[in-house]
Amino acid sequence: MSKKWKVYVTRQIPHAGIELLQKECVVLVNPYDRPLTREELLENIKDADGVLCLLTDKIDVEVFDTAKKAKGFANYAVGYDNMDVEEATKRGIPLSNTPGVLTDATADMAWALLFAVARRIVEADKFLRSGSWGGWGPMQFLGADIQGKTLGIVGAGRIGTAMALKSRGFDMQVLYHDEHKNEVMEEKLGAKQVDMDTLLKESDFISIHAPLLPSTRHMFDMQAFKKMKNSAYLINTARGPLINESELATALKSGLIAGAGLDVYEFEPKVTEDLLSLNNVVLCPHIASATTTARTNMALIAARNLLAMLKGEKAPQCINPKVYGDN
Ligand code: DGY
Repeated sequence: MSKKWKVYVTRQIPHAGIELLQKECVVLVNPYDRPLTREELLENIKDADGVLCLLTDKIDVEVFDTAKKAKGFANYAVGYDNMDVEEATKRGIPLSNTPGVLTDATADMAWALLFAVARRIVEADKFLRSGSWGGWGPMQFLGADIQGKTLGIVGAGRIGTAMALKSRGFDMQVLYHDEHKNEVMEEKLGAKQVDMDTLLKESDFISIHAPLLPSTRHMFDMQAFKKMKNSAYLINTARGPLINESELATALKSGLIAGAGLDVYEFEPKVTEDLLSLNNVVLCPHIASATTTARTNMALIAARNLLAMLKGEKAPQCINPKVYGDN
């Protein structure tokens, strides 16, 4: 079968996705183990019929102007704050994401960070490896209890709901802040929908699962930290700019809050220097969806979306269905 389309994939992804695309397309993949520079991105998408891109690629006016033949852009991520959705919609260009398949992987990671920071796992591991351990001690690495505490969920979508449901083993009270009522959390957990101030004041652990929008940027800043308990922990597996990172470092240093577990950063891949020397923050390099299963399924979904766009069919996980005349 002759291959009709040329597609560009901006970073190596699990092979299942590439293989699926190769059945019908000539597939070119970024050969480097790093994100493309802006110049490389623009050069490579110039004559592509479709692009499978990453959250590290800014998909904006310049990209749409350059990739004149592109019938669509399939993001290899559930978050799509890297894409100018309004501009794409205006131009009738479909965009897609990969919802659903990384829900549990991400919620599991939020729990891993919560445990790691509350029970000082990373600090204790470093201490042991340094050869400093002289034996069991009653005062070593005292941390925080999780059982029976209050968990605050900011953003009660798929991942926020999964995070909340996984609290059942620890008999926690669950509060959530979201513009929509979450029936599942209310029925299964007795979770309470509350305003942001109540969530900040009453939670022992806060886990962020909100999308990055102009209205949510820096929703966690000094004002918010001042409202939190001094004993509270903040977990972020959503997007870095939801937190004012330098103000978080100040809050952690001054004991305004007890600790944080972060997987995402305001200026990725840069991390605010002050955080690097603090023991009460656990830092991971944006790996919440990094299970083999989740990443493989993301590759398959992104490939299926891109193939649909190439064929002029509706992409199953289209972000801007208005391009198909839907609302
Ligand atoms: C996403 O999908 O938005 C994550 O940040 C990366 O998998």
